[in-house]
Amino acid sequence: MAELIKINSDTFETFITEEQIRKRIKEIAMRINEDYAGKTPIFIGVLNGSFIFLADLIREINVDCEIDFFKLSSYGDAKISSGQVKLLKELNCEVAGRDILIVEDIVDSGLSIAFIKNIIEKENPKSLKLVSLLLKKGVPKIDFPVDYVGFEIPSEFVIGYGLDYAQKVRNLKSIYRLAPKGIIKP
Ligand code: IMP
Ligand code: MG
Repeated sequence: MAELIKINSDTFETFITEEQIRKRIKEIAMRINEDYAGKTPIFIGVLNGSFIFLADLIREINVDCEIDFFKLSSYGDAKISSGQVKLLKELNCEVAGRDILIVEDIVDSGLSIAFIKNIIEKENPKSLKLVSLLLKKGVPKIDFPVDYVGFEIPSEFVIGYGLDYAQKVRNLKSIYRLAPKGIIKP
C-alpha cells in the first residue's frame, strides 16, 4: 500500500522508496567509480534540490573527488516551471582541465541542465558528464544525453528526497508523486 501524504489540498503517494533509491545510487556509483578510476573528478551539485542525492552519492564514491555547488532558481513556488533560469550562486572551483560531473535531482524541461552545461563548457573542462537521480520522460529542451540516470519517470510532479513543494518536504526520505484526483479518497 502506498503511503499517503497530504499537503494543503494535494495528496501525494509513495513513488520511489528509500530502499529503491539507496540500491540505485549504489549502482550508479559503481559505474562512476569504474569510469573515473585514477581520476579526481569534481562533483558539482545544483542547489537546492540535489543536496541529499549528492551527499548519498559521494559516500559511495571511492575515487578521490571534490565537491562544489551551483545555485539556480527557476521554479519559484509553483509546480510548473516558470521557464526562467537564474544563477543565484556561482562556482568557486577552477573547472579548466578538470573532469566535471554535474549532479541534478531531476531533469524536467531540461532548461536548468542545459544552462549549466553551457556555462561549464565555456570554461574548458577536460570532460563533462551529467548525473540526475530522476529524468522525466520526453524532456523537450535537451539535445544531449544525461550520462547517469537513476530513474526515468513519467512527467509528473514529485517531492521528497531533496525535491521540494514550495520549499518544503525536501526532508522526506522517499520520493512521492501527486496522487490522481478522484481515485484517492480524502
Ligand atoms: P528543469 O525544468 O529541467 O529546468 O528543472 C529545474 C528544476 O526544477 C529541477 O532541478 C528541480 O529542482 C525542479 N523540479 C523539476 N521538476 C520537479 C518536480 O517534479 N518536483 C520538484 N521539483 C522539480
Ligand atoms: Mg534542481
